[in-house]
Amino acid sequence: MARITASVYTSHVPAIGVAIDQGKTQQPYWKPLFEGYDFSRRWLQARAPDVVFLVYNDHATAFSQEMIPTFAIGTAAEFLPADEGWGPRPVPTVVGHPKLASHIAQSVIQDDFDLTIVNKMDVDHGLTVPLSLMCGQPRAWPCPVIPFAVNVVQYPVPSGRRCFELGKAIRKAVTSYDEPLKLQIWGTGGMSHQLQGPRAGLINKEWDNRFLDRLIDEPAALAQVPHVEYAREAGSEAIELVMWLIARGAMADAAGGAKPRVGHRFYHVPASNTAVGHLILEEQSEEQES
Ligand code: DHB
Ligand code: FE
Repeated sequence: MARITASVYTSHVPAIGVAIDQGKTQQPYWKPLFEGYDFSRRWLQARAPDVVFLVYNDHATAFSQEMIPTFAIGTAAEFLPADEGWGPRPVPTVVGHPKLASHIAQSVIQDDFDLTIVNKMDVDHGLTVPLSLMCGQPRAWPCPVIPFAVNVVQYPVPSGRRCFELGKAIRKAVTSYDEPLKLQIWGTGGMSHQLQGPRAGLINKEWDNRFLDRLIDEPAALAQVPHVEYAREAGSEAIELVMWLIARGAMADAAGGAKPRVGHRFYHVPASNTAVGHLILEEQSEEQES
């Protein structure tokens, strides 16, 4: 059977991708941010997942006002880095896992979550920046990635509660897959985040850190927080954080199992206009390898 070994949470600010691509990671502005991921890159290499299920949002790149799926699963064999206006990022093509993705779609749709099946899709910074932060600049990404796009760009967007429940359904799907694969689930986006209007640049460190605390200790209660609190407390784009609840809902304790242990926690301000949060949660049942 396939199993979920860990979940990873990280912001996905596009300027971080630019800093990596242009060799600026050691500059004074960026160095403290990238140092926060040094542990994570070693950790990922040691853990070597077979597949990453990567929850992210498309930023009007593959989708647009013409078509807005709430939840979309990438079932293709590969996904090209998108051109977001400055040409595609110089990063590897994302290799998918059509068989596992199709199995997850089958199971999750039968569990009453209406996923959109996507057989062709370019992936934007929401997906490639987390891969760069966690993997550096490899010639190929270390394993297949299943892109899972969530609409957090155009209201109405899904509630935290629904995202958490969806994570549980994804766990059920993965653990009913008949191959011994180690899978990680990543939730991306956030944290404090307001890109426009008079409150642009809003940062609420206290709220962000409380979100991290609650994500670790009481995710089911955190999932009840309404959209308006994210927007009011941490800015309009902080709503991206509901995607972290999908990854969190896929951990064992959400299904009555043991609580995960905290592998790594990092928080940094600023990166572009936002706060960057990062967390690694490991399943207790997984032996310590690093
Ligand atoms: C920024 C952050 C994002 O997550 C995003 O999708 C776009 C821009 C920013 O801080 O500039
Ligand atoms: Fe974003």
